[in-house]
Amino acid sequence: MSTTLRRFGLIGKPLQHSLSPFIHERIMDAAGIKGEYKLYELGEGDLARELPKLLNELDGFNCTIPHKLQVRSFLKGLDSSAQLYGAVNTVYRGVGYNTDGFGFQSSCVPLRGKRVCLIGAGGVARVLAVEAARAGAREIVIRARRPERALELASLLAGLGFSQVKCLDFQARESGDVLLNGTPVGMWPDVGGLPVPAEELAGAAAVFDTIYNPTATRLVLKAKSKGLWARGGLKMLFAQAVAAQRIWHPELDFGLLQGELARIEQELAWEVLKRSPLKLVLSGFMGAGKTHVGGLLAQRLGIPFVDLDEAVARRAQLSIAEIFSQLGEEGFRQLERECLEAELSSSGPLVLAAGGGAVVQGGAAQLIHDRGGLIIYLDVSLETALARCASGEGRPLLQKGREAAAALYAQRRPLYKAAADLWVDGNEQAAVVVDAILAAFELEV
Ligand code: S3P
Repeated sequence: MSTTLRRFGLIGKPLQHSLSPFIHERIMDAAGIKGEYKLYELGEGDLARELPKLLNELDGFNCTIPHKLQVRSFLKGLDSSAQLYGAVNTVYRGVGYNTDGFGFQSSCVPLRGKRVCLIGAGGVARVLAVEAARAGAREIVIRARRPERALELASLLAGLGFSQVKCLDFQARESGDVLLNGTPVGMWPDVGGLPVPAEELAGAAAVFDTIYNPTATRLVLKAKSKGLWARGGLKMLFAQAVAAQRIWHPELDFGLLQGELARIEQELAWEVLKRSPLKLVLSGFMGAGKTHVGGLLAQRLGIPFVDLDEAVARRAQLSIAEIFSQLGEEGFRQLERECLEAELSSSGPLVLAAGGGAVVQGGAAQLIHDRGGLIIYLDVSLETALARCASGEGRPLLQKGREAAAALYAQRRPLYKAAADLWVDGNEQAAVVVDAILAAFELEV
């Protein structure tokens, strides 16, 4: 380990949620570099005053919003990577580099020969567009709120010799084989957001979302549930940081650190979960295993678990069967909705096992999404469900015989599917189901 402290950091604003110190300090530690990585919160007007000082004092730094373009005028040169996107995210010895494109490449999105639909035309969308063109996309459809930004991006692509570009409004229903989200829609705490309506996934084969908190957005979960190739932005974030470290420490062989880097990338996924706590709502028919899987999942994630039926029974001071017989199903549903709202209003993370009917009531899915929850549907066959609820005890809706249960099952299954963000096979053992959920969130098991 070298003895002099090497100083790195990030300039930008706002920075309070940045994961860069977490990532860079761990990489340097693994590489035996004695270094620090600090946040320098600088607004647009601060650059002229502060940058010359930082260029002098720091061994290297990263830049983020709002400086990726502006910083260029303070540098003595631009590497070809920074020239390519017209933006800088890494500075070393007064020269600007860009490692975001490398980060995106590391995500291995299938782009060659594809019709790519890019949502957004801001900073990160620029990198996605250029990389899609370089990777041999057939056509790029850019859908942006601000049409002038989309046109600007189209001219950047034209400058690279790529002219198969179509600029459309954000709302236009024209999709592609590959969908790339370069907007913040779906980012924690507003995890209920979807950058495009779910129906648009029908024609797609792959989805990439630059958002990394949550590690799988609603868009990514829906795509995975449909069996599409789908990935969130965590790998891109990590790979761009490793690439910056390579620039700052050209003497080191990072190839020797592969194992360590993979471990840090996993730690990063768990760190994201810690910092951006999620509310995961388990839905599915009676006997789907919501309570069992939910308890186990909460344990694995180290977050609280709530069973909605238990909360309802506590509130009413009655058992579920007593509520049904004394207040009727309507009375039960009202209590259930009140408890659902109350649980979703808590500030921390949560795994919530909803009762079998809770999520399919009118407006419930919308409420969950509006309150920052994601819905995980445990899909079971009717046979599994009934076998697991053989006694029917405590389940008033199973007291009317198999035919009535089958009719309810058939009526609800499409509603469960429509409300689901992630859809997993609940016929499996609980531990297997939990592993599938963790894997969907890129949390290694
Ligand atoms: C119900 C399911 C039950 C309970 C109530 C109503 C339903 O929960 O909320 O009996 O409408 O499917 P479980 O799914 O946990 O059995």
